[in-house]
Amino acid sequence: MSDIFTVIAPVNIAVIKYWGKRDEELILPLNDSVSATLDTSVMCAKTSVCARPDFNEDEIWLNGKKESFSNPRLQNCLREIKSRATAEKTVDDTFLSWKVHVCSQNNFPTAAGLASSAAGYACLVTALAKLYKVKSDVSSIARLGSGSACRSVYGGFVRWHAGTNPDGSDSIATQIADAKHWPEMRALILVVGESKKKVSSTKGMRVSMATSDLIKHRVEYCVPKRTEEIIKAIKEKNFAQFAEITMKDSNQFHSICLDSYPPFVYMTDVSHYIVELVHKYNDFCGEPKVAYTFDAGPNACLYLLEDEVPTVISLIKHAFPSSTPDRFITGLDIEEGSLSSEVLNNLAQPQAKDLIKYVIHTKVGEGPTEVNSGHLLSEDGLPVEL
Ligand code: PMV
Repeated sequence: MSDIFTVIAPVNIAVIKYWGKRDEELILPLNDSVSATLDTSVMCAKTSVCARPDFNEDEIWLNGKKESFSNPRLQNCLREIKSRATAEKTVDDTFLSWKVHVCSQNNFPTAAGLASSAAGYACLVTALAKLYKVKSDVSSIARLGSGSACRSVYGGFVRWHAGTNPDGSDSIATQIADAKHWPEMRALILVVGESKKKVSSTKGMRVSMATSDLIKHRVEYCVPKRTEEIIKAIKEKNFAQFAEITMKDSNQFHSICLDSYPPFVYMTDVSHYIVELVHKYNDFCGEPKVAYTFDAGPNACLYLLEDEVPTVISLIKHAFPSSTPDRFITGLDIEEGSLSSEVLNNLAQPQAKDLIKYVIHTKVGEGPTEVNSGHLLSEDGLPVEL
């Protein structure tokens, strides 16, 4: 039998959003996108894989539950990794014929717009690449699982190139800057809701593609310009510029959802209140010190620099009181520091309790890494915890 290979992989949160596919089968996007990869010490997917001659079928367990391996996206990822292994002549045909067992778990809510599928597929594909000794870039294979997953294959700041080849061979992710480039960059994820999204990103993209005029303008005009500008801002560590582009791009993505027919919304009243609060805070500071961005769900991801974290946390705690204050802020430790109560009261009225469930404090981090202990599969190839 093979060894057990275990990988942990990060989530990524886009600052230039991917929205719309030019090929649904190959998951080829309409536009380039840019994201930051977040630290696996706070949020990650973990996946163990192994192959054995006596396994009867490919099997997968996700977050403690056996799931069907017939999911076409899963099948595509496994098939493509195996064909790379064949092309790279890394393993023999006998090994390739053995069935695989996969066990995976996330340490954060799935399908709540928290990029869980991105981390999950980046993790799966990297673990399979270890199993089959594939050495080449696997971002185009992770893309077949979930488009945004291709960006989780690298750490730091990452660009997913839409590409133009019909076979998708140039639709890959590349690193803009590594995880150490902008060490002060932090992210605060404000968890507003953990329920599954009503309109999946696949369905939403399909409706937008078929009906929105705004998406055409975005793809042709806005994204190319913003992508170049935000890459420059990242390279020069120009936070004000980075923040403005991030917020405008999030707003435009959600405008496209409303411009779609029938329209659909991911942001809630609480999300909109967060937007208002960030703008008030930035006005108070005299320049953008915090940027919000929202994916296909109500949760906010705030990007900000380390120095701002204590005051912004004090503002969030003031505006969004919690009935479990001890468990409200999770993730990386924070320094003490607060705005005066006069400033806090000027910026926000305290809202009803628990509108924000909790906050995850994290930073930019590395891409997927192999770990040698804590495997999720035992020696017999079955999940350690069942
Ligand atoms: O990869 P998917 O199909 O989950 O789509 C993700 C789309 C957004 O999260 C809304 C934007 C992005 O670029 O991550």
